Amino acid sequence: MGADQFEAKRVAESRVVLSTMMNPEHANALGHVHGGEIMKLADEAAGLAAMRHARAAAVTVAIDSMTFDEPIYVGNMVTLIAELTYTGRTSMEIRVAVSAEDPLTGSRVHTNLAYFVFVAIDPQGKPQPVPPLAIETPQEQLRFQQAQERQVERIRRHEREQALRDQELPGGDGA
Ligand SMILES: CC(C)(COP(=O)(O)OP(=O)(O)OC[C@H]1O[C@@H](n2cnc3c(N)ncnc32)[C@H](O)[C@@H]1OP(=O)(O)O)[C@@H](O)C(=O)NCCC(=O)NCCS
Repeated sequence: MGADQFEAKRVAESRVVLSTMMNPEHANALGHVHGGEIMKLADEAAGLAAMRHARAAAVTVAIDSMTFDEPIYVGNMVTLIAELTYTGRTSMEIRVAVSAEDPLTGSRVHTNLAYFVFVAIDPQGKPQPVPPLAIETPQEQLRFQQAQERQVERIRRHEREQALRDQELPGGDGA
């Protein structure tokens, strides 16, 4: 079955909003939350959005452009919003925007932005087609175009790196 045999699904149908409290075990001695903790939460939120869109298991195939714009502290409430920006045949790009709120004062700042690519897989672990994305707003249209450009660049980069790796491996052209 190809992606075109599915009915298109709206971004809002798979959007995930995840809020959680940052506790001492998430932070260093200065009370700053570890970057890896935020990456893990972002991966979880993105994975849930991907699975809700595909209604299938989905695995991370690429993560890029994760920014750390402001520190997050112990006691902050972190909120992650994960939304699909793009679908290919079996792949989906998910944008995750993270903010931190001081629950005592209500002050809230944008802290991180990341893009994840997930691939839907069948029970044998093979990529399987996903429904196309129904684009409803000019912002979604712009995000889709930008995601498509990023995906083209990711594939180019991946192919370049694969070629280099092949040369570096013993028995390769560069051995
Ligand atoms: C994800 C996986 C099944 C893809 O297998 P594959 O043999 O590369 O499959 P394909 O070449 O058919 O690619 C599948 C899709 O992924 C995309 N893709 C593959 N590598 C990619 C990369 N580095 N960056 C972005 N997209 C990529 C392809 O463009 C294709 O998208 P499309 O169908 O929308 O055109 C395989 O790479 C895998 O199992 N990786 C490990 C995943 C994992 O363990 N993640 C961490 C835990 S969740």
